[in-house]
Amino acid sequence: MALLSVNVDHIATIREARGIDEPDPVLAAGIAELAGAEGIICHLRMDRRHIKDRDLSLLKEVVKTKLNLEMAPELVDIALEVKPDVVTLVPERREELTTEGGLDVAGNKGEYKGVTNRLKEAGISVSFFIDPDPDQIRESLNEGADIIEINTREYSEARTESDIQRDFEKIKEAAKLASRLKLRVHAGHGLNYVNIKRFSSIPEIKEYSIGHSIIARTVMVGLDQAVRQMAQLVSQL
Ligand code: PXP
Repeated sequence: MALLSVNVDHIATIREARGIDEPDPVLAAGIAELAGAEGIICHLRMDRRHIKDRDLSLLKEVVKTKLNLEMAPELVDIALEVKPDVVTLVPERREELTTEGGLDVAGNKGEYKGVTNRLKEAGISVSFFIDPDPDQIRESLNEGADIIEINTREYSEARTESDIQRDFEKIKEAAKLASRLKLRVHAGHGLNYVNIKRFSSIPEIKEYSIGHSIIARTVMVGLDQAVRQMAQLVSQL
């Protein structure tokens, strides 16, 4: 049985589109937990384009399951202050719309050991977001990662059955190798209500990190009720 962790960044993205105080990702985190999420994820980006420092410290106070902070290694001091349960190290390019690729651990040997050790010494579990590549997995182990999160972006963007199958097999092999190396295995990026179904054949993946598709569905399944409530108010005017 795998666990679901819900990424609440997109609630903050909607809030920031108006620059006001709603919808609140902290409230959304509580609702996600009440609905069965086993973890809450937020990504504190260097430009603070969605999640703010205020959100992170409130999430640390209210999340009852497990708080996973995604961040670039440069933000390690904030993580050491807030002390989330897990830190997922991700690469960050300012101009990207969302995280585009995994951390290049194999191409930057030794680069992440210091940050990883500091986080682990503070009692924080460390996850590396990496592409499904054996070299990245082996080097993640060398750098001290407790967890790897396999980047499922290529799989989720593949359009032909042969490409989907090829990308899925890479994920499967990566999960098996990481599990043999005693790394905990997570997966995420671009997973949705359709492409998640294939993953029943990869029991090595213990946790899924999902954001966009859940918030997209939130808008669609919630719209009916939201319009009814406003129509009711307006009809009484
Ligand atoms: N994992 C990581 C490392 C991410 O950067 C993201 C996107 O914020 C996700 C998982 C979730 O991806 P999505 O929003 O496409 O479900």
